[in-house]
Amino acid sequence: MSTLIELRDITKIYGQGQASFKALHGVNMSIEQGDFVAIMGPSGSGKSTAMNILGCLDVPTDGEYLFSDVHVEALSRNERALLRRHYLGFVFQGFNLLARTSAQENVELPLLYRGESSLDRHAAAEAALRQVGLEGWGHHTPAELSGGQQQRVAIARAIVTNPTILLADEPTGNLDTKTSNEIMALLTSLNEDKGITVLMVTHEPDMAEYAKRIIHFVDGNIDSDIRNRAIDSKRSVA
Ligand SMILES: Nc1ncnc2c1ncn2[C@@H]1O[C@H](COP(=O)(O)OP(=O)(O)OP(=O)(O)O)[C@@H](O)[C@H]1O
Ligand SMILES: [Mg+2]
Repeated sequence: MSTLIELRDITKIYGQGQASFKALHGVNMSIEQGDFVAIMGPSGSGKSTAMNILGCLDVPTDGEYLFSDVHVEALSRNERALLRRHYLGFVFQGFNLLARTSAQENVELPLLYRGESSLDRHAAAEAALRQVGLEGWGHHTPAELSGGQQQRVAIARAIVTNPTILLADEPTGNLDTKTSNEIMALLTSLNEDKGITVLMVTHEPDMAEYAKRIIHFVDGNIDSDIRNRAIDSKRSVA
């Protein structure tokens, strides 16, 4: 496996002066291509802050971020946007779908931003909806879909661009246990069958068990970083 992402001594300070808050205290992390990582830890420990930096949605105060050996901290805002658009996929707790827009059009949106033709967008979105088990559901609006189906649409939107890595911040946070397990099975298959690297924040130990590696944040630092042996043995038997 080759290294996809490396964080070196990343710090993040929000605000200025008296009101400033240090959310990350020099985080070091390396993620291999093809890995499936769960990030856990108490509320306020810096999980989303780290995810936002990894996703090029925010910049660190200090430290180095390498993506495929490219120094992200040295990129311009536009270059970061290009990296985001071409290599990263995002899934959020609240699905973040456009309400009055069909599932199909929601999934096509990232391709529209990329300037792809309507024919190409349509075919790619249909394929992505098929991959998440929503073939034939493209004409429905989010309100006509269950929470689990809405998250599937959001995952289809995230993978329609063929990202290298999928970043998911509490993707099952709004879902019941059965639906959560279905979404985790989907993320597992995207990791195993499509080779997409998955990085997911979760509060739920049962969901973290799907990952190959579990990183715990405490107070803006990595407290533990362990290989999930249950998964390793399960997969080597299979
Ligand atoms: N934009 C911001 N401005 C100021 N402080 C912030 C900002 N975003 C986050 N923080 C603070 O940084 C710390 C880390 O926040 P972060 O959102 O990364 O935590 P988290 O681990 O994702 O928590 P949760 O499990 O509740 O989502 C918190 O104390 C939070 O209040
Ligand atoms: Mg968070």
